[in-house]
Amino acid sequence: MSRDLAPHDVFRPQVLNENDPGDAAELTRLRADARIEVVDLRAGLRAELRRIHRAPDADPADDRWVYYPWRSALLAVVGAQGFNAIRLDRNRNKLTVAEQRRLRGRTIGVIGQSSGHEIAYVAALEGICGRLRLADADIVELSNLNRIPGGLFDIGLNKCVVTARRIAELDPYLPVEVFRAGVDDDSIDEFLQGLSVLVEACDSLDVKIAAREAARRHRVPVLMETNDRGLLDVERFDLEPDRRPFHGLLGDVDVAALRGLATRDKAPHVMRILDATQLSPRFAASLAEIDESVTTWPQLAGEVALGAATIATALRRIGLDQPLPSGRVRVDLERALDELAEPLVADPLSGVPPVLAVEPSTSVERILHSIERAPSGGNAQPWAVRVDGEVVHISLDPDRSSAMDIGFRGSAVALGAAMHNARVAAAAVGLLGSSEIVLGGESPVSVTLRLGSGTDPDLAADYPHMLGRETNRSLGTGAPLAPDVLDTLARAAAADGARVYAVADETGIAEVADLLAEADRVRYLTDHLHTEMFGELRQPDEDLRTGLDVRSLELTADEQAKMRIGARADVMAYLRDWSGGRALGEYLRDRVLSSAAVIAIGFPANEGLAGYVKGGSAVERVWIAAQKLGLAVQPVSPVFLYARNADDLRDVSAAFTDTLASVHKRFSALMRIPGHEQVALVLRLSYAPAPTVRSARLPVLGSGNDR
Ligand SMILES: Cc1cc2nc3c(=O)[nH]c(=O)nc-3n(C[C@H](O)[C@H](O)[C@H](O)COP(=O)(O)O)c2cc1C
Repeated sequence: MSRDLAPHDVFRPQVLNENDPGDAAELTRLRADARIEVVDLRAGLRAELRRIHRAPDADPADDRWVYYPWRSALLAVVGAQGFNAIRLDRNRNKLTVAEQRRLRGRTIGVIGQSSGHEIAYVAALEGICGRLRLADADIVELSNLNRIPGGLFDIGLNKCVVTARRIAELDPYLPVEVFRAGVDDDSIDEFLQGLSVLVEACDSLDVKIAAREAARRHRVPVLMETNDRGLLDVERFDLEPDRRPFHGLLGDVDVAALRGLATRDKAPHVMRILDATQLSPRFAASLAEIDESVTTWPQLAGEVALGAATIATALRRIGLDQPLPSGRVRVDLERALDELAEPLVADPLSGVPPVLAVEPSTSVERILHSIERAPSGGNAQPWAVRVDGEVVHISLDPDRSSAMDIGFRGSAVALGAAMHNARVAAAAVGLLGSSEIVLGGESPVSVTLRLGSGTDPDLAADYPHMLGRETNRSLGTGAPLAPDVLDTLARAAAADGARVYAVADETGIAEVADLLAEADRVRYLTDHLHTEMFGELRQPDEDLRTGLDVRSLELTADEQAKMRIGARADVMAYLRDWSGGRALGEYLRDRVLSSAAVIAIGFPANEGLAGYVKGGSAVERVWIAAQKLGLAVQPVSPVFLYARNADDLRDVSAAFTDTLASVHKRFSALMRIPGHEQVALVLRLSYAPAPTVRSARLPVLGSGNDR
């Protein structure tokens, strides 16, 4: 107290600009005063500013010296813009920079500086207002310090002054106005002038009524938190100027007439506002003891802090035009704690029932089983298989399509892979005949395989490898591609008239990783694609015969945690709004970066769906060939893969059409895919540990798996 050079009513710090001659003279005087401590915080603040993402510049010309007379201290800080950027950085993105800027345009008034102290201080802490107006006529006493977070040095000071000083020590740039005489009929209009929201936290019924009448006149919303069972009242006089005060709880009583009544006569009305039946038992019992064994109604600091948190939440909603209707709610911590319960501990990787796979026994069963084992996007198995005498029909089932499967092109690729598998099996069992791709009819495209008596030693030799083909989503070792691999794969593709386009150098892989990650980000941020992506995932205790077993994603522990966030559509909506979500592409980026090569299997563009079927056959050949060379294979379908034009892209993701068009173009250029070629599938090849699980299938009738 001895260091306090200020009169008791001073609450505003002096903000001084060294470049202003008047301020400079004042600074010289202050520095010369040996009682005043001088602290320059600027170097530390600038260092903090440099650590912040997307920080504004802090022009030294904006720096200020701030003199706190009640502290006998002179501090140097960076200018307001840099200061706010640092102090409010950790709000982001519970509050974005734009939202903080918007909220800074708000003026908040708080009547009553007992529980109102905490309310005003939390509003300042959160940075959700640009000006505060405080009213209270009382001084701080020791008995207030069970809930006002002040200290012994504040005793005897006006409550508004105490709050205002504390806020000034937090943010010297935030203007605070005080009504040290409190508010009454004469001053209430001045208090309400220009307010965005009024928080009423006083204990006088007269002032409560006057405040609401004025708020109606000025069309200012009123918030009130009564520190018992977290009771919050919202009165949107801004939206409903004719709304009755206190939600009409006082009935037909002439509200104005209540003013001036004796305390005893006011009590029944106060009880109607508070709703006696809903008070906490301790509060209600304490009321009965007032003037007997207790002095006044009780309030706890924790409940006051909760009230400030509730009010801050309501202030943010009003300030950001988010829904907050008039009404009443209890944020009841006691009740919440009564509901304490053990959380559900779900370990997705435990209690795994094995998937039964029955070995096929007859030749036809072997062929049908091979069809069943074909790869398909999301393991959708978009085929219907029918055996008609000596002919096996594999037709495309349009009901198993998805948004990324534009024009059934992805399904056609799966059909092509199934066709190749069937031919490999037919060769192995000596039943190889001719095959044909049929467009139209009941299905957009289908394949017929005529069982003959032929074979093909190369195809037959692939039989065990075809059955062992699998998607491997493990992270690769990063080892480079062995020599001659690409030539071998190109030969495999050429057997179906397709080509392999590859990127196998470190720089190229890094670039392609970025592009594929960006396409994956779009997949997360586009509602229907996100829904489909997570709709495909199966927990081990679910039916695994379709979709992707989560274990096959080979998620590391931190990826599993991230995936739980990534699965939430509400979180994705925010990331979309903020143009964020780069991290969403990390799963794929890391996998591509760990790869030895990324290849695209291309085929002539003029062949329509039949081309995609042939392309799918080529994909399967290349996949099997790569695995034979010890490589792990994972398709990495960018969302634009099967788009042919801008309309297709719009259907995939209306919000990201331009992004996708640009990524598609850069991808084709990087992979050197000529305009006259289309891509059946993109695969990443790596040297990696074996996958954790084998994917399961729905039984194809007659494959043996349906027994
Ligand atoms: C057209 C097509 C697109 C695919 N896209 C992806 C993909 O983007 N990411 C992925 O991890 N797997 C992809 N796959 C692999 C399938 O998910 C996989 O084939 C299916 O789940 C069956 O598993 P399996 O290949 O291990 O037998 C794709 C497969 C096909 C045929």
